[in-house]
Amino acid sequence: MLRTIAVLNQKGGVGKTTTVANTAAALAMRGLKVMVVDMDPQAHLTIHLGENPKQAGPGVYEVLTKSANLAESLVEVRPNLRLLGSNIDLVGAESELVSVVGRDIILREALEAVQDEYDYIMIDCPPSLGLLTLNALTAAKEAFIPVQPHFLALQGFGTLLETITLVTRRINPELKVTGILLCMFDKRALLPAEVKADIEQFLDKARQTDCPWSGAQIIPVHVRRNIKLAEAPSYGKTIFEYEPKCNGAEDYKTVAEYIHSQTGAVVKEQGDELQQPPILIRELAPEAKTATLGDESVEASQTDRA
Ligand SMILES: Nc1ncnc2c1ncn2[C@@H]1O[C@H](COP(=O)(O)OP(=O)(O)O)[C@@H](O)[C@H]1O
Ligand SMILES: [Mg+2]
Repeated sequence: MLRTIAVLNQKGGVGKTTTVANTAAALAMRGLKVMVVDMDPQAHLTIHLGENPKQAGPGVYEVLTKSANLAESLVEVRPNLRLLGSNIDLVGAESELVSVVGRDIILREALEAVQDEYDYIMIDCPPSLGLLTLNALTAAKEAFIPVQPHFLALQGFGTLLETITLVTRRINPELKVTGILLCMFDKRALLPAEVKADIEQFLDKARQTDCPWSGAQIIPVHVRRNIKLAEAPSYGKTIFEYEPKCNGAEDYKTVAEYIHSQTGAVVKEQGDELQQPPILIRELAPEAKTATLGDESVEASQTDRA
């Protein structure tokens, strides 16, 4: 029961790469099979996971231009964790592919071949809404949007959601925004609470509609601002390797647990009925049940009481 999640926000510096690196690492440490894809020519994810993009072999660029296949381009960076890396050539992919028919579905086609081998594929998007992000959104079934709760947090949100809507209309009707993750959260400041309330209000308006974020929720775990999270990448380490006891490690572990606890419900939502039955409903926090499972929540709480 694979979940393919694109982590995107066209704003830079909101926590996309940090989220992909550490959430994927936490899932892999839990024994799940995980692939991460670095769609950003800046190669921050590749570097964060300890690879040198200048010396790396084939990666996203080669897969998109079909000069290498996916299997030969993946690097096993940790137990259970494989990376499809980025390098500077990726900058040119957009213009090189401009006349290629089907250029927006290349990643999807490549990933389809390995579906059965993974529990999670997480795609780290560049800070733009161009062809690379489009490939990610076409390959994914879910979009996560990290948000840094400061006063311009929701600026650009409209454009982002319009892009997602376009993708769902034209190429990938299955795509849903499932999670908004508040990153670099500072509880003491007033603003985060306001930004959070704004997002909640915005999401609530979409609840009964068929837009791709009608089922989205703010992930009920915030990632607190933590300097260790900013230091770890320059050592090529995940937060669990760099400082396993810090708040950042705790937060991303909790985020990963939460995401995984939702898997049963999400896969069911995706109509994958032949797969395993929904799992872990009992493990969800009560607020999570009501927030995400709709009618299912009644059933779940009754089961709990029984
Ligand atoms: N919770 C956090 N606390 C402190 N620094 C963080 C946190 N999350 C990310 N950072 C740092 O902020 C910068 C931007 O984060 P990054 O994940 O690279 O964002 P994006 O991929 O959206 O550009 C990086 O230097 C990163 O190390
Ligand atoms: Mg990034």
